[in-house]
Amino acid sequence: MATRIRVTAGDVTEFPTPALVVNLFQGVTQPGGGTGAVDRALSGAISELIADGEIKGKLGEMTLLHTMGRIPANRVVVAGLGKSGDFDTAAVRRVSGDVARFLRRKGVSEYATIAHGAGIGGLNASESAQAIAEGTLLGLYKFDTYRSNGTDNQDSREVDAGIGEVTIVERDAGAVNGLEAGVSVGTILAESTMLARDLVNHPANVMTPTKMAETAQQVAAEVGLELDVMDRDRMGEHGMGAFLGVAQGSEEPPKLIVMTYRGDPDNPQNNLGLVGKGITFDTGGISLKPAANMEAMKGDMAGGASVIAAMRAIGSLKPRINVTGLIAATENMPGGRAQRPGDVVTAMNGKTIEVINTDAEGRLVLADALCYARSLGITRLVDVATLTGAIVVTLGKACTGMMGNSSKLARDLGVAGERSGERFWELPMLEDYRDLIRSDVADMKNSGGRQAGSITAAMLLREFAEDADWVHLDIAGTSTASSSKGHLVKGATGVPTRTLAQLAMNLADGK
Ligand code: BES
Ligand code: MN
Ligand code: ZN
Repeated sequence: MATRIRVTAGDVTEFPTPALVVNLFQGVTQPGGGTGAVDRALSGAISELIADGEIKGKLGEMTLLHTMGRIPANRVVVAGLGKSGDFDTAAVRRVSGDVARFLRRKGVSEYATIAHGAGIGGLNASESAQAIAEGTLLGLYKFDTYRSNGTDNQDSREVDAGIGEVTIVERDAGAVNGLEAGVSVGTILAESTMLARDLVNHPANVMTPTKMAETAQQVAAEVGLELDVMDRDRMGEHGMGAFLGVAQGSEEPPKLIVMTYRGDPDNPQNNLGLVGKGITFDTGGISLKPAANMEAMKGDMAGGASVIAAMRAIGSLKPRINVTGLIAATENMPGGRAQRPGDVVTAMNGKTIEVINTDAEGRLVLADALCYARSLGITRLVDVATLTGAIVVTLGKACTGMMGNSSKLARDLGVAGERSGERFWELPMLEDYRDLIRSDVADMKNSGGRQAGSITAAMLLREFAEDADWVHLDIAGTSTASSSKGHLVKGATGVPTRTLAQLAMNLADGK
């Protein structure tokens, strides 16, 4: 069920709703703002629970009170915001997602909330509302497409109807416009992120390269983008031997999907290219992966999914910058036509690669996609890929690995990430690591062995970004979540869709 977020001016103590969400910072004993008003209307019920030590205001804490008719809201939820010194929009997203799932479990179909942190939290109305919209919509995300009874509960008697509407109630009528603007941006970013999640969660027998191209086509029509989908033959004409080497083992037709948004057509140098790895299933090829957890490799197109999704957000938000999304989509399969370890392939820029391991396929398809982006005149590139298991060992799931040749662009991504709440950590691109991918027979080899696996992968990509400003994002850890928390739901995360869109907006504003 689609949830609508709306804003209204009024007094929360007078607002009729099945549930009203207020909040509390850790350590506050006498709540102010909306929480204080509700406390007074409930004859001090909230401050009494604080005094008893039952409500502490810790981040993630939720306390449900029934109002017994003392105010028009049937229930009040006091949501902990944590320490005010640690407070930011990430805390608002966290609280909003947790509260939304909590109330859905209680069977509530709609509720109201105050704008978290817009008072003593120091956020402006628009930031707070954007984070509420993102946290709520993303936290309520479900992927039920393949359940014949339409619910993730095995018991069909417990079909939950979902949350239809969430109302942000604001005392100050002058703040309503700012709140509405934030809700609007947050809704676009959340819906786009959910598109990326859907693409990743679909199984590989459905989400083929052809299906990804069809989705890109729908997005392009919806928000007004140009679309070009290159097939095997056209890729051959461009000399994309690295990409086609990976695709040759698969019966599924590969696609190089190119989506173009022209937000500053008179200034072609004002550009950004987003390049996504779109391996719709990674068996490893002839260097076959072990059976355990291989099903997770349906998600090896998460980079491409986030690029399609970010292009949707950018097409909707319309920043003044030209953005091109390129998605290198193919399966990586073993078979009679599959490439072999030891094969040498030539990429579009003429550089040769010895394929030591057919499971190091992401860097091969990205090599040609980066070359093609360069041939379109793009001078600033961000690639996104579930590239290495090594990045999961290094950083786990808390942040995305970042490498590149431009400290400015890496900084820009860090700044965009602070806004989106998605986190990035840069690894060193020291020349010493280049030695690890030296080949005896070709310009480079596609696997550097066990040392610094994420960095050697980036070292190969660097050969194809050439003189463009370029940053590589390894999302092998962050593209999926192992449990639900805040705005994240177990399964695909949609990372880094919101950051990519934010980056385009920041660059457009000259930030
Ligand atoms: N798609 C995988 C990386 C991956 C691993 C993504 C775990 C998500 C979760 C990638 O194509 C791969 O197989 N990488 C190899 C590279 C190696 C052969 C040099 C790896 O990381 O083991
Ligand atoms: Mn692989
Ligand atoms: Zn892969």
